[in-house]
Amino acid sequence: MSEELIIVQGGYPIKGEVIVAGAKNSVLKLMAATLLAPGSSTIMNVPIISDVTLMGEVLTNLGAQVVFGKHQVTIDTATVDSVHTPYELVAQMRASIAVLGPLVARFGRAHVAMPGGCQIGSRKLDMHISGLEALGVVFETEHGFIEASIPNGLSGAPVILDFPSVGATENLMMAATRAQGKTTIDNAAREPEIVDLADFLIEMGAQISGAGTPTIEIEGTSELRPVKGFSTVGDRIEAGTFLVAGMLGKGPLTVRGVQPQHLEMALSKLKAMGAELSVSDEGITISHDGIIQPVDIQTLPHPGFPTDLQAQFMVLDVLADGRSVVTENVFENRFMFADEIGRMGAEIRIEGHHAFINGIKRLSGAPVRSPDLRGGAALVLAGLVAEGQTDIAGIEHIDRGYEDFVEKLASVGAHITRKTA
Ligand code: UD1
Repeated sequence: MSEELIIVQGGYPIKGEVIVAGAKNSVLKLMAATLLAPGSSTIMNVPIISDVTLMGEVLTNLGAQVVFGKHQVTIDTATVDSVHTPYELVAQMRASIAVLGPLVARFGRAHVAMPGGCQIGSRKLDMHISGLEALGVVFETEHGFIEASIPNGLSGAPVILDFPSVGATENLMMAATRAQGKTTIDNAAREPEIVDLADFLIEMGAQISGAGTPTIEIEGTSELRPVKGFSTVGDRIEAGTFLVAGMLGKGPLTVRGVQPQHLEMALSKLKAMGAELSVSDEGITISHDGIIQPVDIQTLPHPGFPTDLQAQFMVLDVLADGRSVVTENVFENRFMFADEIGRMGAEIRIEGHHAFINGIKRLSGAPVRSPDLRGGAALVLAGLVAEGQTDIAGIEHIDRGYEDFVEKLASVGAHITRKTA
C-alpha cells in the first residue's frame, strides 16, 4: 500500500519568518464548549489540522451544524439532539472527551466512548470522573462507554485534583458553568489554553475567576449564550517547534502569532543552550552560531517545561556538546521518539522516565516513522540538520496538529516535500 512521506534533505539554513496558527489544544475545547449554549458560535484563528476536522465530526455527529471557513468555524448547537459519541471518533482523538462536561451540563446526560488518542502512556480519566462526581454526576461504565447522568441535578462543589490535569480542569470548568452554586477547582492546570477556554466561557456569560492560577472559581448560571468571533490563542507548541528549527538551521528565524510569555521556560532553555533570542510584541527571533550547550530538561505542568516540546528539544540535546538528562514527568512512555532518532545515530539511553543523552556531532539521514504527533515533528527537525536524506513515515500524526508544516518549513529554507511512496 502506498503511504505519504515527508522527505527532508538536511543541512540548509533556516531563516525568515513564520506565523503560527491558533492552538490545537485550545480550539478543540472551545469547539466542545459551544455545546453549552444553544445557538450559533463563531471561533476565529482556527488551525487547519485533522484534529479540528475530527472535533467537527464529533459535534456534527451530536446534531450540530458545523461550517468551516478560512481559519474560522461556525458551530450551531441549537440542533443538537444526541448525547452519544461513538468509539470510531473518540478512538481517533482523546480530546473528544471534552464533550463530556458540556453535554452533561446542557442535557443532563452523556454517553461517550472511552478514549484512545496518542500512544503516550496510560492517560486515565479518573480525575475527570471523580471531579464531575463531586458536582453530582453519576457514572456507569459499560461496554467501553461512559454513561453519565445527573439524577439530582448539577451542584457546585469544591474539587481538589490529584494532579493539575489539563483535560480534567477543562471538563470540570465547563460543567461547573451551568451547575447550581459555586465550584472551586484546586490544583487546577494553569496552561494558557485553560485561560483561553475560561475567556471563551466568560464571553458566553459564565462567571469564572482565577484561570491561570492553581485555584479556579466558577459560579454557576443557567444563562449561557453563543459567542461570536472569539479568536483562539496562538499555538505555543507550534511556535516552540519552529524555534528549535531556527536554532538548528542557525536563523535568524522570526516566529509570530504567539505570546512570548507562554513560552518562558522553553525560551530560557534555548538561551541556556546558546541561542540568541530577541523577544518583542512583533515576535520571537532566534539565531545561533557555534556549538549547542547540553541542558537538562524536566517536563512539568505549566509553567514548567511543556511535555509537548520534550521531543523537539531532545533533538537539540542530541546534537549538543556533552551529556544531558531529559526527564518526562507528565506522561508515562513518552520516549518512543528516542528509538527512532537512534536510527539516525543519536545516543540516548532510556531508564524509566529519564533519557540520558550523549551529544554527537551530526545525525545521519535515515528512513524513520513518527511515533506520535510531537515525536513526528521532532523527527522532521532532526532531518533538517542530518547528513543526507531523511524519509519520515506515519505523517498522519503530524497532520493532526501542525497546519502546513512542510510548506511553512520550506518557506524558511528547508529542502522538504511530501511524497507518496
Ligand atoms: C493535554 C494536551 C496534551 C498535553 C497535556 C499535558 C490536549 C488535547 N492535549 O492532554 O497535548 O501533552 O495536556 O500538557 O489539550 N491523568 C490521569 N487521570 C486523569 C487525567 C489525566 O491519570 O483523569 C494523567 C494522564 O494519564 C497524564 C497526566 O495526567 O499522565 C496529564 O494528563 P492531562 O494533563 O489530563 O493531559 P490531557 O488533557 O490528556
